[in-house]
Amino acid sequence: MDRNFLCLESALLAMEPVNAVLSLARQSGRGSITTEVQTFILDHCTKNVVGKDNTRHDIYMKNILKRIISAAESSNTDVVEGLYEQFACYMMLNMEDGSLNENNKIYKHISFYLSNGHNDMTLTNFVVKLQCSLNMLQGDTGCALWPSSLFLSEFILSHPWILSNKCCLEVGSGVGLVGVCLAYVGACKVVLTDGDASTLANMEHNIELNQHITKNRVECKYLLWETISESELQSFQADIILGADIIYDPRCVPHLLHVLSILLNCGKSRLYEEKVSMQCKKELNYYNKQKDISDNLSKKAPVAYIATVIRNQNTWSYFLRLAGEARISVQDITRMNKSFNLLPYMLSYDRESVYLFKLSSLCD
Ligand SMILES: C[S@@+](CC[C@H](N)C(=O)[O-])C[C@H]1O[C@@H](n2cnc3c(N)ncnc32)[C@H](O)[C@@H]1O
Repeated sequence: MDRNFLCLESALLAMEPVNAVLSLARQSGRGSITTEVQTFILDHCTKNVVGKDNTRHDIYMKNILKRIISAAESSNTDVVEGLYEQFACYMMLNMEDGSLNENNKIYKHISFYLSNGHNDMTLTNFVVKLQCSLNMLQGDTGCALWPSSLFLSEFILSHPWILSNKCCLEVGSGVGLVGVCLAYVGACKVVLTDGDASTLANMEHNIELNQHITKNRVECKYLLWETISESELQSFQADIILGADIIYDPRCVPHLLHVLSILLNCGKSRLYEEKVSMQCKKELNYYNKQKDISDNLSKKAPVAYIATVIRNQNTWSYFLRLAGEARISVQDITRMNKSFNLLPYMLSYDRESVYLFKLSSLCD
Protein backbone atom coordinates (compact mmCIF):
# COMPACT_ATOMS: atom_id res chain seq x y z
CA MET A 1 0.00 0.00 0.00
CA ASP A 2 1.18 3.53 -0.77
CA ARG A 3 2.71 5.11 2.34
CA ASN A 4 0.30 8.09 2.27
CA PHE A 5 -2.69 5.75 2.24
CA LEU A 6 -1.14 3.69 5.01
CA CYS A 7 -0.79 6.84 7.13
CA LEU A 8 -4.38 7.82 6.35
CA GLU A 9 -5.59 4.38 7.45
CA SER A 10 -3.56 4.51 10.67
CA ALA A 11 -4.89 8.01 11.44
CA LEU A 12 -8.48 6.81 11.02
CA LEU A 13 -7.84 3.78 13.25
CA ALA A 14 -6.21 5.99 15.89
CA MET A 15 -9.20 8.34 15.66
CA GLU A 16 -7.00 11.31 14.94
CA PRO A 17 -8.71 14.73 14.91
CA VAL A 18 -10.76 15.48 11.80
CA ASN A 19 -8.38 18.23 10.58
CA ALA A 20 -5.40 15.88 10.79
CA VAL A 21 -7.27 13.21 8.79
CA LEU A 22 -8.29 15.81 6.20
CA SER A 23 -4.70 16.88 5.75
CA LEU A 24 -3.53 13.25 5.29
CA ALA A 25 -6.41 12.67 2.84
CA ARG A 26 -5.16 15.61 0.75
CA GLN A 27 -1.61 14.26 0.88
CA SER A 28 -2.85 10.87 -0.33
CA GLY A 29 -4.58 12.52 -3.29
CA ARG A 30 -1.52 14.68 -4.08
CA GLY A 31 -3.32 17.85 -3.02
CA SER A 32 -7.00 17.00 -3.50
CA ILE A 33 -9.55 14.58 -2.09
CA THR A 34 -9.76 12.38 -5.17
CA THR A 35 -12.45 9.74 -5.68
CA GLU A 36 -9.79 7.13 -4.96
CA VAL A 37 -9.14 8.72 -1.55
CA GLN A 38 -12.88 8.98 -0.88
CA THR A 39 -13.39 5.28 -1.67
CA PHE A 40 -10.51 4.39 0.63
CA ILE A 41 -12.10 6.35 3.50
CA LEU A 42 -15.48 4.79 2.78
CA ASP A 43 -13.95 1.33 3.09
CA HIS A 44 -12.75 2.30 6.57
CA CYS A 45 -16.14 3.39 7.90
CA THR A 46 -16.76 0.04 9.51
CA LYS A 47 -13.26 -0.59 10.85
CA ASN A 48 -11.97 0.16 14.36
CA VAL A 49 -14.97 -1.35 16.04
CA VAL A 50 -14.30 -3.17 19.30
CA GLY A 51 -17.19 -4.29 21.46
CA LYS A 52 -20.89 -3.83 20.80
CA ASP A 53 -21.34 -0.10 21.21
CA ASN A 54 -20.11 1.58 18.04
CA THR A 55 -21.84 4.90 18.57
CA ARG A 56 -18.68 6.87 19.26
CA HIS A 57 -16.98 5.44 16.20
CA ASP A 58 -20.05 6.23 14.09
CA ILE A 59 -20.06 9.84 15.30
CA TYR A 60 -16.38 10.13 14.50
CA MET A 61 -16.84 8.74 10.98
CA LYS A 62 -19.89 10.94 10.43
CA ASN A 63 -17.75 14.00 11.20
CA ILE A 64 -14.96 12.74 8.94
CA LEU A 65 -17.36 12.12 6.02
CA LYS A 66 -19.00 15.51 6.47
CA ARG A 67 -15.64 17.29 6.15
CA ILE A 68 -14.43 15.08 3.29
CA ILE A 69 -17.62 15.67 1.29
CA SER A 70 -17.53 19.43 1.82
CA ALA A 71 -13.79 19.62 0.98
CA ALA A 72 -14.35 17.63 -2.24
CA GLU A 73 -17.41 19.68 -3.20
CA SER A 74 -15.71 23.01 -2.57
CA SER A 75 -12.83 22.03 -4.86
CA ASN A 76 -15.25 20.78 -7.57
CA THR A 77 -14.04 17.20 -7.21
CA ASP A 78 -16.57 14.41 -7.89
CA VAL A 79 -18.00 12.85 -4.75
CA VAL A 80 -18.47 9.07 -4.86
CA GLU A 81 -22.12 8.05 -4.45
CA GLY A 82 -21.36 5.66 -1.59
CA LEU A 83 -19.98 8.50 0.50
CA TYR A 84 -23.29 10.40 0.38
CA GLU A 85 -25.16 7.18 1.16
CA GLN A 86 -22.97 6.32 4.14
CA PHE A 87 -23.25 9.87 5.44
CA ALA A 88 -27.05 9.70 5.12
CA CYS A 89 -27.02 6.42 7.11
CA TYR A 90 -25.09 8.11 9.92
CA MET A 91 -27.52 11.04 9.85
CA MET A 92 -30.46 8.65 10.20
CA LEU A 93 -28.94 7.09 13.30
CA ASN A 94 -29.64 10.47 14.90
CA MET A 95 -26.57 10.39 17.09
CA GLU A 96 -25.91 13.38 19.26
CA ASP A 97 -22.35 14.14 20.36
CA GLY A 98 -23.79 15.50 23.60
CA SER A 99 -25.69 12.29 24.38
CA LEU A 100 -22.49 10.44 25.25
CA ASN A 101 -21.76 11.98 28.60
CA GLU A 102 -22.16 8.80 30.63
CA ASN A 103 -19.23 6.91 29.19
CA ASN A 104 -17.09 9.06 26.96
CA LYS A 105 -14.81 6.26 25.87
CA ILE A 106 -13.54 5.40 22.42
CA TYR A 107 -11.27 2.73 21.05
CA LYS A 108 -8.06 3.91 19.46
CA HIS A 109 -5.75 1.63 17.51
CA ILE A 110 -2.22 3.02 17.82
CA SER A 111 -0.01 1.70 14.99
CA PHE A 112 3.74 1.94 15.48
CA TYR A 113 5.68 1.87 12.20
CA LEU A 114 8.57 -0.41 13.01
CA SER A 115 11.22 -0.85 10.35
CA ASN A 116 11.64 -4.40 9.08
CA GLY A 117 15.41 -3.87 9.17
CA HIS A 118 15.68 -3.11 5.47
CA ASN A 119 15.90 0.38 4.10
CA ASP A 120 12.70 0.18 2.09
CA MET A 121 9.09 1.25 2.40
CA THR A 122 7.83 -2.03 3.86
CA LEU A 123 6.79 -1.39 7.41
CA THR A 124 5.96 -3.77 10.19
CA ASN A 125 2.93 -2.47 12.00
CA PHE A 126 2.70 -3.08 15.71
CA VAL A 127 -0.82 -2.11 16.73
CA VAL A 128 -2.01 -1.45 20.29
CA LYS A 129 -5.75 -1.22 20.97
CA LEU A 130 -6.72 1.17 23.72
CA GLN A 131 -9.93 2.25 25.34
CA CYS A 132 -9.48 5.98 26.03
CA SER A 133 -11.45 9.05 27.02
CA LEU A 134 -12.80 11.04 24.11
CA ASN A 135 -10.43 13.88 24.88
CA MET A 136 -7.97 14.91 27.57
CA LEU A 137 -10.34 17.21 29.39
CA GLN A 138 -13.17 14.70 29.75
CA GLY A 139 -13.27 12.08 32.48
CA ASP A 140 -10.19 11.00 34.38
CA THR A 141 -6.81 12.30 33.22
CA GLY A 142 -5.51 8.73 33.37
CA CYS A 143 -7.97 7.52 30.73
CA ALA A 144 -6.61 9.90 28.09
CA LEU A 145 -3.55 9.19 26.00
CA TRP A 146 -0.88 11.80 26.77
CA PRO A 147 1.97 12.77 24.42
CA SER A 148 4.65 11.71 26.90
CA SER A 149 3.43 8.12 26.86
CA LEU A 150 3.66 8.14 23.04
CA PHE A 151 7.19 9.52 23.40
CA LEU A 152 8.15 6.94 26.02
CA SER A 153 6.69 4.17 23.85
CA GLU A 154 8.77 5.35 20.87
CA PHE A 155 11.82 5.37 23.15
CA ILE A 156 11.15 1.79 24.32
CA LEU A 157 10.57 0.49 20.79
CA SER A 158 13.63 2.35 19.43
CA HIS A 159 15.99 1.12 22.17
CA PRO A 160 14.59 -2.33 23.07
CA TRP A 161 17.89 -3.61 24.49
CA ILE A 162 17.61 -1.14 27.41
CA LEU A 163 14.37 -2.77 28.58
CA SER A 164 14.52 -6.38 27.44
CA ASN A 165 14.89 -8.91 30.28
CA LYS A 166 14.39 -6.16 32.83
CA CYS A 167 11.88 -5.93 35.63
CA CYS A 168 9.98 -2.72 34.86
CA LEU A 169 7.64 -0.69 37.03
CA GLU A 170 5.63 2.24 35.73
CA VAL A 171 4.06 4.87 37.99
CA GLY A 172 0.94 6.79 36.90
CA SER A 173 0.46 4.42 33.95
CA GLY A 174 -2.90 5.76 32.72
CA VAL A 175 -4.19 3.79 29.74
CA GLY A 176 -1.30 1.28 29.85
CA LEU A 177 0.29 1.87 26.43
CA VAL A 178 3.85 1.89 27.84
CA GLY A 179 3.26 -1.50 29.47
CA VAL A 180 2.20 -3.11 26.18
CA CYS A 181 5.37 -1.74 24.51
CA LEU A 182 7.51 -3.06 27.39
CA ALA A 183 6.01 -6.53 26.97
CA TYR A 184 6.57 -6.31 23.20
CA VAL A 185 10.33 -5.64 23.62
CA GLY A 186 10.69 -8.53 26.06
CA ALA A 187 10.78 -7.01 29.55
CA CYS A 188 10.74 -10.05 31.84
CA LYS A 189 8.20 -8.49 34.21
CA VAL A 190 6.03 -5.40 33.83
CA VAL A 191 4.10 -3.82 36.67
CA LEU A 192 1.81 -0.93 35.73
CA THR A 193 0.43 1.20 38.53
CA ASP A 194 -1.96 4.06 39.13
CA GLY A 195 -3.54 5.74 42.12
CA ASP A 196 -6.93 6.27 40.49
CA ALA A 197 -9.37 3.37 40.69
CA SER A 198 -11.29 4.06 37.47
CA THR A 199 -8.04 4.57 35.57
CA LEU A 200 -6.83 1.23 36.91
CA ALA A 201 -10.02 -0.53 35.73
CA ASN A 202 -9.63 1.01 32.26
CA MET A 203 -5.94 0.00 32.18
CA GLU A 204 -6.78 -3.60 33.11
CA HIS A 205 -9.31 -3.67 30.26
CA ASN A 206 -6.64 -2.42 27.84
CA ILE A 207 -4.09 -5.00 28.96
CA GLU A 208 -6.74 -7.68 28.40
CA LEU A 209 -7.44 -6.26 24.91
CA ASN A 210 -3.76 -6.67 24.05
CA GLN A 211 -3.30 -10.08 25.63
CA HIS A 212 -1.78 -11.44 22.39
CA ILE A 213 1.17 -9.10 23.04
CA THR A 214 1.27 -8.90 26.83
CA LYS A 215 0.85 -12.67 27.33
CA ASN A 216 0.24 -12.48 31.11
CA ARG A 217 3.52 -10.65 31.66
CA VAL A 218 1.84 -7.35 32.61
CA GLU A 219 0.30 -6.77 36.04
CA CYS A 220 -1.82 -3.76 36.94
CA LYS A 221 -1.69 -2.58 40.56
CA TYR A 222 -3.16 0.19 42.64
CA LEU A 223 -0.34 2.46 43.81
CA LEU A 224 -1.05 5.86 45.32
CA TRP A 225 2.16 7.81 45.87
CA GLU A 226 0.86 9.38 49.08
CA THR A 227 0.15 6.12 50.91
CA ILE A 228 2.36 3.37 49.49
CA SER A 229 4.72 1.91 52.09
CA GLU A 230 8.47 1.58 51.75
CA SER A 231 8.31 -2.21 52.05
CA GLU A 232 5.67 -2.49 49.31
CA LEU A 233 7.84 -0.41 47.00
CA GLN A 234 10.90 -2.51 47.83
CA SER A 235 9.00 -5.70 47.06
CA PHE A 236 8.72 -4.73 43.35
CA GLN A 237 12.50 -5.14 42.95
CA ALA A 238 12.36 -2.95 39.85
CA ASP A 239 15.40 -2.59 37.59
CA ILE A 240 13.79 0.17 35.58
CA ILE A 241 11.15 2.66 36.68
CA LEU A 242 9.14 4.55 34.09
CA GLY A 243 6.72 7.45 34.11
CA ALA A 244 4.99 9.63 31.51
CA ASP A 245 3.35 12.97 32.16
CA ILE A 246 3.28 12.51 35.91
CA ILE A 247 4.90 15.81 37.02
CA TYR A 248 2.16 18.41 36.84
CA ASP A 249 0.56 18.76 40.27
CA PRO A 250 2.89 20.45 42.80
CA ARG A 251 0.99 18.80 45.69
CA CYS A 252 1.98 15.37 44.38
CA VAL A 253 5.62 16.18 43.63
CA PRO A 254 7.04 15.45 47.14
CA HIS A 255 5.18 12.11 47.27
CA LEU A 256 6.30 11.14 43.78
CA LEU A 257 9.90 11.94 44.66
CA HIS A 258 9.64 9.93 47.85
CA VAL A 259 8.45 6.94 45.77
CA LEU A 260 11.20 7.40 43.18
CA SER A 261 13.86 7.80 45.82
CA ILE A 262 12.90 4.50 47.52
CA LEU A 263 12.70 2.64 44.19
CA LEU A 264 16.08 3.97 43.02
CA ASN A 265 17.80 3.36 46.35
CA CYS A 266 16.26 0.09 47.45
CA GLY A 267 17.57 -1.48 44.29
CA LYS A 268 21.07 -0.41 45.21
CA SER A 269 20.93 -1.91 48.68
CA ARG A 270 19.34 -5.08 47.28
CA LEU A 271 22.13 -5.51 44.74
CA TYR A 272 24.71 -4.79 47.40
CA GLU A 273 23.32 -7.41 49.78
CA GLU A 274 22.97 -10.01 47.01
CA LYS A 275 26.50 -9.39 45.83
CA VAL A 276 28.06 -9.53 49.28
CA SER A 277 26.36 -12.79 50.22
CA MET A 278 27.19 -14.38 46.87
CA GLN A 279 30.80 -13.33 47.08
CA CYS A 280 31.21 -14.41 50.68
CA LYS A 281 30.13 -17.87 49.64
CA LYS A 282 32.70 -17.94 46.90
CA GLU A 283 35.36 -16.70 49.33
CA LEU A 284 36.82 -14.24 46.88
CA ASN A 285 39.65 -12.05 48.14
CA TYR A 286 38.87 -8.65 49.56
CA TYR A 287 40.13 -6.66 46.56
CA ASN A 288 38.00 -8.51 44.02
CA LYS A 289 35.01 -8.29 46.29
CA GLN A 290 35.18 -4.52 46.44
CA LYS A 291 35.87 -4.14 42.72
CA ASP A 292 33.01 -6.41 41.69
CA ILE A 293 30.63 -4.71 44.06
CA SER A 294 31.38 -1.27 42.69
CA ASP A 295 31.24 -2.54 39.07
CA ASN A 296 27.92 -4.17 39.76
CA LEU A 297 26.52 -1.10 41.42
CA SER A 298 27.45 1.17 38.54
CA LYS A 299 26.16 -1.35 35.96
CA LYS A 300 22.92 -2.47 37.54
CA ALA A 301 21.63 0.19 39.91
CA PRO A 302 18.00 0.94 39.06
CA VAL A 303 17.31 3.89 36.83
CA ALA A 304 14.13 5.75 35.98
CA TYR A 305 13.05 7.10 32.60
CA ILE A 306 10.58 9.94 32.94
CA ALA A 307 9.01 11.58 29.89
CA THR A 308 7.34 14.91 30.45
CA VAL A 309 5.98 18.05 28.87
CA ILE A 310 7.11 20.99 31.00
CA ARG A 311 3.86 22.93 31.18
CA ASN A 312 4.66 24.91 34.31
CA GLN A 313 8.24 25.97 34.93
CA ASN A 314 7.65 26.48 38.69
CA THR A 315 6.40 22.92 39.14
CA TRP A 316 9.35 21.59 37.16
CA SER A 317 11.86 23.67 39.20
CA TYR A 318 10.22 22.40 42.38
CA PHE A 319 10.65 18.82 41.15
CA LEU A 320 14.34 19.48 40.37
CA ARG A 321 14.94 21.08 43.77
CA LEU A 322 13.38 18.16 45.68
CA ALA A 323 15.24 15.66 43.47
CA GLY A 324 18.51 17.39 44.40
CA GLU A 325 17.61 17.21 48.10
CA ALA A 326 16.85 13.48 47.72
CA ARG A 327 20.24 13.03 45.99
CA ILE A 328 18.63 11.96 42.72
CA SER A 329 20.42 12.94 39.53
CA VAL A 330 18.14 14.13 36.71
CA GLN A 331 19.80 13.96 33.33
CA ASP A 332 18.15 15.34 30.19
CA ILE A 333 18.61 12.63 27.54
CA THR A 334 16.04 13.93 25.04
CA ARG A 335 18.61 14.72 22.36
CA MET A 336 21.15 12.08 23.39
CA ASN A 337 18.92 9.02 23.00
CA LYS A 338 16.97 10.01 19.89
CA SER A 339 14.09 7.70 19.04
CA PHE A 340 12.68 6.84 15.64
CA ASN A 341 9.55 8.56 14.44
CA LEU A 342 7.29 5.52 14.72
CA LEU A 343 4.02 7.46 14.52
CA PRO A 344 4.46 9.43 11.28
CA TYR A 345 0.69 9.66 10.67
CA MET A 346 -0.12 11.12 14.09
CA LEU A 347 -0.20 14.82 13.24
CA SER A 348 -1.83 15.67 16.58
CA TYR A 349 1.22 14.40 18.48
CA ASP A 350 3.76 17.15 19.13
CA ARG A 351 6.94 15.15 19.66
CA GLU A 352 9.05 18.29 20.09
CA SER A 353 7.17 19.29 23.23
CA VAL A 354 8.29 16.22 25.20
CA TYR A 355 11.50 15.81 27.22
CA LEU A 356 13.01 12.58 28.43
CA PHE A 357 14.96 12.42 31.70
CA LYS A 358 17.06 9.63 33.15
CA LEU A 359 17.07 9.53 36.94
CA SER A 360 19.48 7.69 39.18
CA SER A 361 20.40 7.78 42.82
CA LEU A 362 23.56 9.58 43.91
CA CYS A 363 23.46 7.90 47.34
CA ASP A 364 26.25 5.41 48.12
C1 LIG B 1 -1.49 12.97 32.93
S1 LIG B 1 -1.87 11.35 33.34
C2 LIG B 1 -0.65 10.44 32.42
C3 LIG B 1 -1.07 9.05 32.15
C4 LIG B 1 -0.11 8.22 31.31
N1 LIG B 1 1.16 8.04 31.96
C5 LIG B 1 0.11 8.86 29.95
O1 LIG B 1 1.15 9.52 29.76
O2 LIG B 1 -0.75 8.69 29.06
C6 LIG B 1 -1.25 11.20 35.00
C7 LIG B 1 -1.47 9.85 35.63
O3 LIG B 1 -0.88 9.84 36.93
C8 LIG B 1 -1.81 9.32 37.87
N2 LIG B 1 -1.56 9.97 39.17
C9 LIG B 1 -1.65 11.29 39.45
N3 LIG B 1 -1.39 11.53 40.74
C10 LIG B 1 -1.12 10.32 41.30
C11 LIG B 1 -0.78 9.89 42.63
N4 LIG B 1 -0.69 10.78 43.61
N5 LIG B 1 -0.56 8.58 42.83
C12 LIG B 1 -0.65 7.70 41.82
N6 LIG B 1 -0.98 8.03 40.56
C13 LIG B 1 -1.22 9.33 40.30
C14 LIG B 1 -3.17 9.69 37.31
O4 LIG B 1 -4.22 8.86 37.82
C15 LIG B 1 -2.93 9.53 35.82
O5 LIG B 1 -3.18 8.21 35.40
